[in-house]
Amino acid sequence: MDIAADTRAIESLLAFWSQAGADGCFSDAPVDRLAERAPTTPRPTTRALPTAPAVAARSAAPDLAGTIEQARALAAAAQDLSQLEAAIAGFDGCGLKFEGAKRAVFSRGAADAPVMIIGEGPGAEEDIQGVPFVGRAGKLLDRMLKAAGLSERVFITNTVFWRPPGNRTPAPAEQMVCAPFLERAIALVNPRFLLLAGGASAKAMLKRDEGILSLRGRWFDWSPEDGSARLPALPTLHPAFLLRQPGAKKRAWQDLLTLTERLDRPERPE
Ligand code: URA
Repeated sequence: MDIAADTRAIESLLAFWSQAGADGCFSDAPVDRLAERAPTTPRPTTRALPTAPAVAARSAAPDLAGTIEQARALAAAAQDLSQLEAAIAGFDGCGLKFEGAKRAVFSRGAADAPVMIIGEGPGAEEDIQGVPFVGRAGKLLDRMLKAAGLSERVFITNTVFWRPPGNRTPAPAEQMVCAPFLERAIALVNPRFLLLAGGASAKAMLKRDEGILSLRGRWFDWSPEDGSARLPALPTLHPAFLLRQPGAKKRAWQDLLTLTERLDRPERPE
């Protein structure tokens, strides 16, 4: 039996269901958890004990509103993208910073790009290099952007700026404390369109519950928290999903064509 191949197949299937919007896993027969015996000895764990700052960050977590306010003040003070990057790097309010991430990962691309691509969160390679979308998924994204003539017309960032441990999906609270920085990045770059890569990005940005397979390819209006602006946003499939499900590339390609068609359409005066 090829265990590695089996594991990859199971991971791929789980990723497919997760991207399709499944968020629970049920068996046919009910399980009475109350009847299960509590373990008498502590289970061995492979996770490192939390560091002091991680403990501090977690105990600060109940004051989510205060942390978001702090992020908003720091973000508002940033007058350009390099100040914003420095503000993010100095921000201690996102627990991910203390869960093994090596550094903050902010952005790459043209500072005046007409399209801002927003992914979910940095992965292993991004954590090493400090640049978003530079791993396998990023290379696929770059090939697709090149084929669509978009390489020089995008600014790329994520909903969270530190790598979630084990590449898990960022939690809504982690996305919420990072959102003021993301909003400020959108204000500074001032793109015409947002391209939301993957379910965790689309759900957080659009505040919708549907799975990415239902959201993708449709235009939505994105607004910052204070409702002061509106921007057309197009959810699409995440390139990491496309690596696992190559059959879905056609749909992601359609989304890029939808985007380029609108980007190149002459703007009508309002
Ligand atoms: N996946 C993401 O969502 N963002 C990255 O930067 C890399 C992989």
